Parts: sequence; structure tokens; C-alpha cells
Amino acid sequence: MAVGDWWRHGVIYQIYPRSFQDSNGDGIGDLPGITSRLDYLNDGTPVSLGVDAIWLSPFYPSPMADFGYDVADYCDVAPEYGTLADFDELLRQAHRRGIRVLVDFVPNHTSDRHPWFQASRSSRDNPYRDWYVWRDPKLDGSPRNNWRSYFPAVGGAWTFDAATAQYYLHSFLPQQPDLNWWNPEVRAAMHDVLRFWLDRGVDGVRIDVAHKMARDPDLRDNPPPLASGESSSGRRYDEDWPEVHTILRGFRRLLDGYGDRMAVGEVGIYDPARLVRYFGEALDELHLAFNFAFLTQPWRADAFRDSVDLYERVLPAGAWPTYTLSNHDNPRARSRYDGGDGRSGLRRARVAAMLLLTLRGTPFLYAGEEIGQADGEVPPERVVDVHGRDPERTPLQWDGSRGAGFTTGDPWLPIGSEAASVNVAAQRDDPASILSLYRQLIWYRKGSAALRWGSYRSIGTAPGVFAFLREAGTERLLVALNFGDEPAALDAGSLGLPSVGRVERSTEAARPLAACPLAPLELGPDEGVVVRL
Ligand code: GLC
Ligand code: CA
Repeated sequence: MAVGDWWRHGVIYQIYPRSFQDSNGDGIGDLPGITSRLDYLNDGTPVSLGVDAIWLSPFYPSPMADFGYDVADYCDVAPEYGTLADFDELLRQAHRRGIRVLVDFVPNHTSDRHPWFQASRSSRDNPYRDWYVWRDPKLDGSPRNNWRSYFPAVGGAWTFDAATAQYYLHSFLPQQPDLNWWNPEVRAAMHDVLRFWLDRGVDGVRIDVAHKMARDPDLRDNPPPLASGESSSGRRYDEDWPEVHTILRGFRRLLDGYGDRMAVGEVGIYDPARLVRYFGEALDELHLAFNFAFLTQPWRADAFRDSVDLYERVLPAGAWPTYTLSNHDNPRARSRYDGGDGRSGLRRARVAAMLLLTLRGTPFLYAGEEIGQADGEVPPERVVDVHGRDPERTPLQWDGSRGAGFTTGDPWLPIGSEAASVNVAAQRDDPASILSLYRQLIWYRKGSAALRWGSYRSIGTAPGVFAFLREAGTERLLVALNFGDEPAALDAGSLGLPSVGRVERSTEAARPLAACPLAPLELGPDEGVVVRL
């Protein structure tokens, strides 16, 4: 039944290991915890969620200044998350269930505790000195250029190291020094890291900030943000530098040597025409690239339609889209799109589920999205992230108990205030729950060639409705999503479509799955439907 590559038609589920499942009561999620929940993710039957792959955010040894995105050893497991043997067992158990596993690959920077950086900072003539980016201060003592950290709280991207009287570059925290990718030894060492995980059997990698790594070798000043014509971020010289494509082609050649492994890149570029360059001119770079322009759309039918249509237009032949609405770096869609009443967010989350799971492209779900989990409330004294991302990282809500079924101890971040009602156990057997909707849509998608690899075409809308056709062979589906909180009617009949179709899925559990008129097709408030034509 499968046509093409697994990563084109599968559903990928992101796990933030620290917050998924604690197995030993220390309040921190861990690898054995993930293994114990694999049946929930896919046990081969529609009782389970049915995802095809998981992506694990970093679980490597780390001082956790950026909760694992500051890696101190690329080839091991942090003691709080388990051991390499635990990882192998997780991989074995996942594969037994047909679940592929992606690991997070963080090539732009290491932790300042990584032995490479420890050596690099020890003296100016250490062999590792050139593995990082060191520069003398200017005559007035200031850093070499005006580059800024991605985290506004950090400020400049250079930190002075008194021991050797030079500055080093860090695109994120000072505890995350940037590697010098112009140095061939760095490239070789990072290729070895990839091989380490691919040899263990992982199915692919998510590449952290895949548009960084290379930067202007002359380290020129960035133009002031708004004056820059070519990039709204003003990051002309410190990201999206041409050499990054050579680096990505190197990763791709290595992956291709292993058969059907893949890479999805976190490419923080919002201009779709630039973003698609990351697939490579000969489709020889990333297999998939996150499309963050989509994630940042306001909750409006025309905004999402325009974003998808534009992406479809600029996507090179043979390249493949992906869509995601939530991850560990952004407020959850459930909360982002909440009108402020706490209810509309949950209703919109159902429409968002249908959107993600019916578009042409690989859906990435973020753990908790399938139960409509909201951002947690994190009081000031419990804040641990420098960049305000704790709310979307609170523990997964498995049940209504004190530790939400996540832990028997004290959770590292507080449990969300809705956990007593918004949790897996409460939704599992309720056919009207959002969890049931996700399960139904994912399993429906598996059985539909049109949804998995069919064509996409948006069709004339009624105001507030995003409607599109998905077609493969003789299978024709109409997806109509009402982004408004009032009923809407879409006159599909007038668009050259049949006057009757069959509703096969709805975000409203009460809607009968039966034949229905399309001239017009009536939609309830915040309702989405999949109609077979
Ligand atoms: C990526 C990660 C984010 C991290 C940053 C630095 O954007 O998703 O969590 O802080 O890279 O590694
Ligand atoms: Ca634990």
C-alpha cells in the first residue's frame, strides 16, 4: 500500500523526553518512561494514536543550561534520562511496533562543558582552539562585531574569556559556544556523531538550527534589523550563509549511504522562496524542513490558505512539505489560538488537528497536542528557561492524579492546571474527545491514498472557510474547515463539484457520517469536515 518514502506519508510525533514520562519518581521524564508508553503511540490498532515515527529532543549528557540543546557528549545518554542500553531498548521496542525513531542532532554548537570546548579554551595554541570561533577584542575592548544571540535576554553573541583574553562566539547562550564549521576536523567529527546514531539503528535526525553552522568568514557586522532589504531578521552575515548548503549536502550523502534514513531540518527562515533552497538544487540536501511561516499564521482561514498555497507554489518538484503547529519552542496552538475564554482554544485545536492531518505534507505533532493540552502556568519562582518556553514544556497529562501520571515525585515543571480534566485517561474512551479525533484522523489518513500522497488544490472559499481538494487516482476528498465561530456555508456545488458527497470525518462528534448536500455544504461553528466526493 505504501507508495514512496515513509517520511512522506507518515505522521511524526515529537517527544520532549524531560516531560513525557518519568519512570523512577525523580520528577524528570526518561527513556524507560518513553518505552513504557510506546503502545499508547502505536500498538498496531486504532485503539492507539497510530503515529509512524517519534522524534526525541536531546537526551545526551548536558549541563541543561538549554535543557539538552547544550550537548556535552554527543554519543551518550544523560544519567537522568537513562543509559545507552535504555536507548537501544527504546529503539528495539519502537521498531517492534513499526515506529521509526529520529534523534536530535545539534551541530551548530556544543555545551561549554564539552571536552572539545574545554580544550579549545585552555590555550590559544591548543589543537582544538580553531574548532570554535575565537577573536581578539577591538581596540576599545568590545567584541569583533555586532552579532546578537537569538535569546534577547543574552544580548550580544560574544563572551570574553579572560583566561586567553579573546571572545568566543555563541548564537544562543554563553554556555553554547558555536563550532567553527570552516574547520574540516569539525566536519569530520560531526559526521562521526551522525554515524554513531545511524549505526545504532536510528531512522533519521532532526537537525537543530540547520540554517546556521556556516557564517561570513569575515565576520562582518549585520545591518540594523529593519534597514535590511533582504532579510527581515537583519541576520545577513550570521545565518543562511551559502556554505551551509555544502554542509547539508555532506550530511545527505552520509545518510544516503544508509538507505532510507532521513533528515528534517529546523530552518528558521520565514520566506518560503528561501526556505525551499534547503531541499537542495538537486534535491540533495534536507528531506524535510519545518515551515515556520505556517506555524506563525493568525487563526484565519485566508491566512492559512495563502500560506499553504504559497508554499505549494514555490516548492520544487519532488520536494515535500511538512506542517506543524506546536513544538517545545513555541506556545502550544491550543493556547496560542485561544480567544481568551479557555474554550475556543480547545474547539480550534480540533480544527487544527484536521488541518494538520489532511494537508499534503508530513504532519509533525507535539506530545500533548492530541489531548488539547494547554500551556502550563509557571510561577516566577519555578521559571527555568531563559527564553520563556517553560509553559509549553510542562509534563504530559496522562491522568487526573497529583503527578498527572507523569511522575510519582515532584515534577521538574508544574503540572498544568487543567490536568484533572484534560488528560489521556479521561479522553481515551470518550468518542467525542480530541484524543479520539486525532486517533480517527490518523488512522483514516493511513487508509487514504489521497491524504497521504495525493494532489492538493485549494478551492474558492466562503468567508472564514479554508477548503481544499485532495485527489489520488479515483479517490477525491474535499476538506472544509470553518475557522469562524459562526455557522458557515460553502457552495461546493457551484465550483464544479458534485452536489452530494459523503461526510467521512468531522470535528463534531455528533455530525452523522452520511451523505450530505454540497450545494451548499453547511458547517457548524469551528467545524471541519472531510467529505468523499
Ligand atoms: C533550537 C531548539 C531550541 C534551542 C536552540 C538552540 O531552536 O529547538 O530549543 O534552544 O535550537 O539549540
Ligand atoms: Ca526519571
